[in-house]
Amino acid sequence: MPQAGFNDKVKLNVRDNFDQSCQMYNEFEEKHHFFASLALKLAENINLKPNSIVLDVGCGNGISAQVLNKYFSCQVLGVDLSEKMIESGRSLCASPEIRLLVGDGEKLAELTGGQIFDYVLYNASIFIFPDVEKTIKEAACCLRPGGKIAFSFYPSLEGGGGEDLLDEAFRRLGEPIPRFRVITDYDKARRALLNNCGTVTNYRWARPFDIEFSQDFFSIPAQSASLFPGRNYEERRELVRRLFSTLSDLAERASIVWRMADGVKP
Ligand SMILES: C[S@@+](CC[C@H](N)C(=O)[O-])C[C@H]1O[C@@H](n2cnc3c(N)ncnc32)[C@H](O)[C@@H]1O
Repeated sequence: MPQAGFNDKVKLNVRDNFDQSCQMYNEFEEKHHFFASLALKLAENINLKPNSIVLDVGCGNGISAQVLNKYFSCQVLGVDLSEKMIESGRSLCASPEIRLLVGDGEKLAELTGGQIFDYVLYNASIFIFPDVEKTIKEAACCLRPGGKIAFSFYPSLEGGGGEDLLDEAFRRLGEPIPRFRVITDYDKARRALLNNCGTVTNYRWARPFDIEFSQDFFSIPAQSASLFPGRNYEERRELVRRLFSTLSDLAERASIVWRMADGVKP
């Protein structure tokens, strides 16, 4: 099927991007502790219960898995496409209650071997899945009735009046606004949740816009590829630095916003 071939190509590209991103991802997290905070925020919003069994899809180097284990005493199985991220995660996650596997999150039934979970979480990963219906359907099959599927989404940059400041930054930089910042948009991911759970609750986490944080976040190779596709990494890094500097006069009233959603399996 041509669509299946296209989706496989997208996932190979994603895998390679995250293999290349691993070291910078770790450096970014050491400096900002951001993905740990995002995982905590997601857990807090969805009222995650301690001692749960969690499937962490797109677990990367296990930051979210560690947070869930450390603060909520959860047993976590993490899966990720990128071998490098998983290798790094295995060296960082000491707890025997965390298991990390290389694999495709659109094939969860195959990866989990029939294990049933209380939660299936996607911390900053769902927007990279080309077939979001498939992964959410597979997630629902791995959940007990009453269990939750939840995700945190790609950030948006909002001005004081809610306007999209990333578009404004591209205009100021004189570069084309990227057509696809994400592979799957929020509405599509939310609809997949709705189709499998019946109802969806949405959340927002807004933080003050910080130029240096945004420059560091979007300098991770995989993130910069979504803003400046087709450019080599050094070029992208410099463009990212200039892109966010254009917003210095608007920074005070701006926010960086992470949307989140959850659904309960009937
Ligand atoms: C931004 S990182 C987030 C990692 C982690 N959840 C965290 O909080 O630090 C997104 C991860 O999703 C993974 N990913 C993307 N598509 C995937 C797929 N189809 N199956 C498994 N992992 C995937 C990427 O390899 C990457 O490591």
